[in-house]
Amino acid sequence: MSIRSITLAALAATAAVEVAAQDDTATVTVDIPRDLETRRLVPDVYGYSIEPIWVDDYVSTPLAKTLLSAIAKVARKPPPIRVGGNTADQTYLHDELPTGNDSVAIPGYLNAKQFNVTPAWYDSWAGYFPEGTDIIYTLNLAVNESAWSNAVAQAAAAHKALGSKLVQFELGNEIDHFINKGWRDASWGVAAYIEQFRNLTGQIVASDWYKAIDEDDDRPTFQAGVFADPPWVPDQQDEIDDFSIANLTKDGEGGIVEREQDKDIIGSYATHLYPQSTCDGPRWLRMRLDLLSNHQVLWQGESSRNISQYVPQVAAADKAGAPLVMGETNSVSCSGKSGISDTFGAALWGVDYVLLGASIGIRKTYFHLGAQSEYSAFTPKPYAIKNETVGAGIRANWYSHYFVAKVAATATEDEELSIAALPGANSSTFSGFAVYSGEEDDDENRSLRKLVFLDMGVWNGTEGLSNNSTLKATDGKSFSNGTRPSGTIKVSTPWTAGRNVSVTRLAGPGTNAKSGVTVSGVTFDAKTGEKVGEEKEEVVQVGENGALEVKITRAEGVLLEIVDGDGSGNGNGNGNDGEGDGNSGAAGKKITLWSSLFVAVMTAGFIVML
Ligand SMILES: *[C@@H]1O[C@H](CO)[C@@H](O)[C@H](O)[C@H]1NC(C)=O
Ligand SMILES: *[C@@H]1O[C@H](CO)[C@@H](O)[C@H](O)[C@H]1NC(C)=O
Ligand SMILES: *[C@@H]1O[C@H](CO)[C@@H](O)[C@H](O)[C@H]1NC(C)=O
Ligand SMILES: *[C@@H]1O[C@H](CO)[C@@H](O)[C@H](O)[C@H]1NC(C)=O
Ligand SMILES: *[C@@H]1O[C@H](CO)[C@@H](O)[C@H](O)[C@H]1NC(C)=O
Ligand SMILES: *[C@@H]1O[C@H](CO)[C@@H](O)[C@H](O)[C@H]1NC(C)=O
Ligand SMILES: *[C@@H]1O[C@H](CO)[C@@H](O)[C@H](O)[C@H]1NC(C)=O
Ligand SMILES: *[C@@H]1O[C@H](CO)[C@@H](O)[C@H](O)[C@H]1NC(C)=O
Ligand SMILES: *[C@@H]1O[C@H](CO)[C@@H](O)[C@H](O)[C@H]1NC(C)=O
Ligand SMILES: *[C@@H]1O[C@H](CO)[C@@H](O)[C@H](O)[C@H]1NC(C)=O
Ligand SMILES: *[C@@H]1O[C@H](CO)[C@@H](O)[C@H](O)[C@H]1NC(C)=O
Ligand SMILES: *[C@@H]1O[C@H](CO)[C@@H](O)[C@H](O)[C@H]1NC(C)=O
Repeated sequence: MSIRSITLAALAATAAVEVAAQDDTATVTVDIPRDLETRRLVPDVYGYSIEPIWVDDYVSTPLAKTLLSAIAKVARKPPPIRVGGNTADQTYLHDELPTGNDSVAIPGYLNAKQFNVTPAWYDSWAGYFPEGTDIIYTLNLAVNESAWSNAVAQAAAAHKALGSKLVQFELGNEIDHFINKGWRDASWGVAAYIEQFRNLTGQIVASDWYKAIDEDDDRPTFQAGVFADPPWVPDQQDEIDDFSIANLTKDGEGGIVEREQDKDIIGSYATHLYPQSTCDGPRWLRMRLDLLSNHQVLWQGESSRNISQYVPQVAAADKAGAPLVMGETNSVSCSGKSGISDTFGAALWGVDYVLLGASIGIRKTYFHLGAQSEYSAFTPKPYAIKNETVGAGIRANWYSHYFVAKVAATATEDEELSIAALPGANSSTFSGFAVYSGEEDDDENRSLRKLVFLDMGVWNGTEGLSNNSTLKATDGKSFSNGTRPSGTIKVSTPWTAGRNVSVTRLAGPGTNAKSGVTVSGVTFDAKTGEKVGEEKEEVVQVGENGALEVKITRAEGVLLEIVDGDGSGNGNGNGNDGEGDGNSGAAGKKITLWSSLFVAVMTAGFIVML
């Protein structure tokens, strides 16, 4: 990023603080620097992690399949599914169970200490997910008896049932909590993990079923790491150990990829993050919806401690030759918090989170699902909780997925997208991303395809306050006064004058809303998961010198996408404007001009950050 764009971003942030409260008809001008570093944006960037004990419930109704299929239709690829979580390390494979069932949680589903399954359990969900779904299965690493014979048998049973749908295994969940849980002694750390990783993967790779898979490409790989503790927040770490992606992959000091055969089978590295938590008293008191819907807090938390702390972890994974993923996440740990997790504010957060993560190289983000969890984007069955009965259905946060699917969708099978966060759209209440056609970090050949802007400002409305699938006790009770602010975003794009740009809106009655959320008018039926209605068309036209204007309301997301032409040749400000408008060499100047204007207006104090 250039010094200039940093200065601009800083100026914008300062101006925002000074004038935000004074004017409701806000205008913000956003520059798109030419030299942004981009990272790959894959079509299946947004995935789910399903707690093993809750898989049966999720596959017991068509709801999940219908919703996941709607995503596949937009993104050309179904969301990836990880079957994993705490109960993965409590899963035991048996030939059969005394009750004759495929699975049983002991003593019960809400307080499971053991999850017993048979090989038929894997068959029971193998065919459920939409065609083309990539499945990751977490093996039980905790139970180390007989050289992990339980995990070795699980791997064989999972592969037998899932075949080529099974793309990866994880060995254990949140292994940096194993000492705390009594599953390992104090010697547990990177060195012990690597030894055990080599033993268990060595057994799997040497097994007949694994060797029988001809093509190297179809052989499941391993997602290594799977750490829970936020690397830069020591007081939130469960135990003292040396787990981090950087330590796991360190060069020349016994790192995991020093043996070529380990490097070959590691497909990715995983960390987990929950920015808020109900797990303990201090964090319970810090839970706040307005901190979730806050772009600056998402990046740096109280002191560089939310997404930004993964920058070194990504760098370590990249260096070791495999991408980092956020393998399990959600808004609030220990099952979520209704009133925060299930609101429209959480939907805006979900979009910002996945895209900000992708822009720093977090390849995929997997949102955790439990059939009775307050953060789940959809729940398959009604259930009793906290003196209420909540219905099966869809929550407001689901809509972030449908919106992101549109952001990450490619125009053709072969197109590759890359993404960067915009320095000029980087305040607490305003976030923005540029999406390019072209490989990551190739700023010569890429062309700008889409722009995303999120107004993360809190607007607590008086509509859509409750939803049959959420707790009534948490329906919004604090409302914003006055009229809901709205404003105009002015972007200086490299796009040619006259071209059409479609506008897709992620909209809701307010940050606090639990229903009434739409993506350009489209909703999803709470009972069946079927898409209801068609996207309302909204088109804006590129003006002189690539100027583009779009309206945005407080607490709303917009996706701007070039819709005419073939999607290529829209230039990137580097002078390769394929439209041949004869002034492509001036593209660089246009941006400078807009930037100067921006600074001038900023100085005059007219600009208000949304
Ligand atoms: C076992 O299966 C039967 C019949 O499907 C069901 O009624 C019962 O609740 C199941 N038991 C457990 C413990 O899951
Ligand atoms: C095996 O697991 C037990 C606890 O179940 C633990 O005490 C022991 O340290 C583990 N052994 C190894 C080699 O990690
Ligand atoms: C795994 O460890 C066991 C002892 O716990 C050993 O007998 C076996 O050879 C090891 N297997 C591999 C593949 O390292
Ligand atoms: C990485 O390893 C070093 C040396 O063992 C240790 O001091 C450090 O705390 C580890 N980092 C993390 C995040 O655990
Ligand atoms: C991360 O963000 C949340 C808001 O979602 C905030 O409450 C939390 O304090 C942040 N974490 C840190 C460690 O700053
Ligand atoms: C449920 O109702 C009981 C009895 O009225 C009450 O003590 C308890 O606090 C309630 N629990 C919740 C979560 O509201
Ligand atoms: C609301 O939830 C109840 C279960 O609590 C269910 O019986 C009812 O059908 C649901 N209504 C709608 C409209 O989903
Ligand atoms: C956004 O602002 C934070 C500091 O407030 C900075 O650390 C970060 O790099 C900025 N992001 C971009 C894309 O400019
Ligand atoms: C741009 O594309 C050309 C032709 O494919 C290639 O030679 C060049 O290396 C690319 N530039 C970058 C920065 O990757
Ligand atoms: C909006 O509502 C949430 C909870 O619904 C509350 O935490 C927050 O303080 C409210 N903010 C405003 C500005 O009303
Ligand atoms: C709205 O106005 C009322 C009355 O002045 C005040 O009590 C309340 O705090 C205000 N709400 C917000 C979110 O500012
Ligand atoms: C709950 O809200 C979501 C989001 O607006 C909506 O899709 C769903 O239909 C609502 N559920 C009910 C039962 O109204």
